[in-house]
Amino acid sequence: MRILITNIGELTTNVADGDDPCGTRHDAAVLVEGDRIAWVGAAVDAPDADEIVDAQGRAVIPGFVDSHSHLVFGGDRAAEFEARMQGQKYAAGGIRSTVAATRAATDDELRMRLRGFLDEMLAQGTTTVEIKSGYGLDVTTEERLVRLAAEVTEEVTFLGAHVVPAEYADRSDEYVDLVIGEMLDACAPHAKWIDVFCETGAFTVPQSRRVLEAGIARGLQPRVHASQLGSGEGVQLAVELGAASIDHGTYLTDDDVTALAGSATVLTLLPGVEFSTRQPYPDARRLIDAGVTVAIACDTNPGSSFTSSMPFCIAVAVRDMRMTVAEAVHAATVGGAAALRRDDVGRIAPGMRADLVLLKSPSRVHLAYRPGVPLVEAVWKDGVRFS
Ligand code: NIG
Ligand code: FE
Repeated sequence: MRILITNIGELTTNVADGDDPCGTRHDAAVLVEGDRIAWVGAAVDAPDADEIVDAQGRAVIPGFVDSHSHLVFGGDRAAEFEARMQGQKYAAGGIRSTVAATRAATDDELRMRLRGFLDEMLAQGTTTVEIKSGYGLDVTTEERLVRLAAEVTEEVTFLGAHVVPAEYADRSDEYVDLVIGEMLDACAPHAKWIDVFCETGAFTVPQSRRVLEAGIARGLQPRVHASQLGSGEGVQLAVELGAASIDHGTYLTDDDVTALAGSATVLTLLPGVEFSTRQPYPDARRLIDAGVTVAIACDTNPGSSFTSSMPFCIAVAVRDMRMTVAEAVHAATVGGAAALRRDDVGRIAPGMRADLVLLKSPSRVHLAYRPGVPLVEAVWKDGVRFS
């Protein structure tokens, strides 16, 4: 089956063209064959196809690659959010209340919720999603969470070291023993990534190192939550261990920025977190100008960021992190792919997965210019059209 999407007013390919990293083309067409992109070029040169989709001059972008989410959990924390909007501070400990609700939920309840979030994301243009465990914090529940995540994505992250559970209070080293022992044994077969929350109130740098090194020894690849609530040595640890990404980076030192700029580690910005916790926004301009590769992700979770909308996160990154719209769209697509070390998503080019979004607008600029407005007309994932 060959599908031709033609009369595209503005096509974001992300195949760099001179000083345009978005590789923007006008009056373009894209040919999809099966689950891959077969051809990209000028609409006037378009080949024949079995089905023609007339984009009517509107914009097409690659499907969003959301490289950071926590989608398998029970309950919510609306009351905590309300209290925060009235001045309460966000703290890592809130995670524990979601742990109780998650342990109490059945597999089917968690699965239905998870699938609901994925539908929500697809409708907003997200075609690749990374999903973390981390609300089980015991062997049985963590295994359930990675197993459920693996039903819907190949980007599964074992985050047993999310926070120390109540039953291990004051015995955090013993909990780390459990994470890198029995819990890792149970979870590693379902996961690609190992993650740790390296932060005051969660895990220290030496504990984080133990977790990451044990995961690496098991064949998992490292990624790290760090510098969310204050600066620390988590970024340097992530770079030293060759992590694909450090996520948050709300409080980065100049040394952190220098280390990231000279590394293959992506800095994943999570604008929904600063928005929903009333923390200061990191300055993406400082990072990009220093040569750091940045991604944008939603960090969908019931505590710090309960949005699943990449267009919303793009709008906030442009408005409050000083990114251009082109940089933000790039970061939410091919930036996310880099954070997941994927070279088959995030670009519109022959051979890439046919993950595309047709917008209702003539330009990607509208994603930030019209915040909160549903601008997705159609989404193709692996060549299959949704909506
Ligand atoms: O990425 N930082 C740690 N984990 C999540 C928050 C989880 C929660 O508050 O439930 C995050 O922000
Ligand atoms: Fe997170």
